Formats: sequence, structure tokens, C-alpha cells
Amino acid sequence: MKSLIIAIDGPSGAGKGTIAKAVASRLGYRHVDTGAMYRAIAWRALQMGLSFEDEASVVALARKAVLKTEAVIEIDGYDVTEAIRTSEIDTASAAVARIPAIREILVSHQRAIGSRGGVVMEGRDIGSIVFPDADVKIYLDASPEERARRRGLDRIHKGEVDCDEEGVATALAKRDRLDRDRTVSPLRVPSGAVVIDTTAVSVEAVVMRVMSYILDDTNRAEVGEPRDSSSC
Ligand code: DC
Repeated sequence: MKSLIIAIDGPSGAGKGTIAKAVASRLGYRHVDTGAMYRAIAWRALQMGLSFEDEASVVALARKAVLKTEAVIEIDGYDVTEAIRTSEIDTASAAVARIPAIREILVSHQRAIGSRGGVVMEGRDIGSIVFPDADVKIYLDASPEERARRRGLDRIHKGEVDCDEEGVATALAKRDRLDRDRTVSPLRVPSGAVVIDTTAVSVEAVVMRVMSYILDDTNRAEVGEPRDSSSC
């Protein structure tokens, strides 16, 4: 089978991580969580005592950063796999993701990682900006209530015992607004994406649907619909 680029976008709590990992594992592909890159930069900026108002310093750190985003997330030799999954980093990473120069740096990193294919890449702008000619584009969504419920469960599993449902819902709505309203690469359904609402659907059922789109697209590619590789 051709080594495909599979783009999975959508808001927080829509199920991107779970679905992208499962699909990558079925295909034997790499799974790349681009949100973890924005989170790692935010973590490093806080650790270095930088202010997000001081964009030049945050951009300088991103330019020099050595990032690893596979099973373990590392930045400049620090394993931040757990540390980047906190409410503080939720907010900080949304601030980092609004800085155009940071996006340029990370988008170019993401293209370098994914351009050979064999990758399931998840984020907010994968099918629209990073790989506009991805072989398969999926946009996952779910109701705000369900997304807040899932995010709250994540937090509780990670030991944030003071996590109240209303607080999670408010924080999530605020982050959604930041991601959707920013001027650079706002969260949008990419053109040509298949939209799947995961609200009341089991993980297995969503994975099956995504797999069936992938296999359909592959069949079409094999009967001669060449991929336009000029745009990335
Ligand atoms: O998916 P996540 O919650 O881990 O993402 C963290 C932040 O980074 C979130 O505010 C959205 C932003 N992000 C982005 O702007 N573009 C991406 N490709 C991935 C994440």
C-alpha cells in the first residue's frame, strides 16, 4: 500500500488522539501529535521564566529547540510527556499557537516529519496548512458537553482532583475561541475533509469509519488519481 499522509483535525476533546493512535497502529504508521509540539514549547518557555508577551524570546527558544514527539515527548533533552498535560499548559500552549513565527517553525518541522508519508498527523491545521494535499483528511468533532466531559475525565485520570466539570467546560470553551478566532491558521474544517461527529459513537466505530475512508481513498489513488504534490 502507498505510504499515505493522513490528516486528522478538530477541536479539543473530539477524540483526535485516541483515533489517530488507533489508526496509526492498524496501518503500522507513525502517529504525530502536533499539539504536543505547541505544548512542549509552552512548557519550555515557562520553565525558562519567559513571558508570552515577549514573543521574540519565545520564538528564539522555538528556533533552537530540539523536539522529539514519538512515544515520549522531549524538548531539549527534558522528557515532558506528562508535564505538558496540565491546565496551565492548556492555556499556555494556546498562547504559543497564536504566534505566527512559532507556527512557521513548527509547520516546517511537521512537513519534514510527514512528507515521506506513512504518517497519521493530528492537530488543528494539518489538512488545511501543513498538508493541504494530504491523501485523507478527517475532521473530528463532538458536542461541547461531551468534549468537556472527556477532557474532565482525562484530568481526573491524571490526578487533578480539584477538577470541577464546570471549570473544565469554561476553560475548554475559552480555548476553542482562541483556536477558532486567531488570525493565523484558525481551526477550520479543511476543504475536502470528511467530518465525523464522535459525540455518541464508540471509539471502535469511529476507527472503522476512518479506516474505510482510508481504504476507499487508497483504492482511488491506485486506479490513477495522482496526488498533487506541488503545494507542500
Ligand atoms: O491538541 P492540543 O490541545 O494538545 O493542542 C494544544 C494547543 O495547540 C491548542 O491551543 C491548539 C494548538 N494547536 C494548533 O494551533 N495547531 C496544531 N496543529 C495543534 C495544536
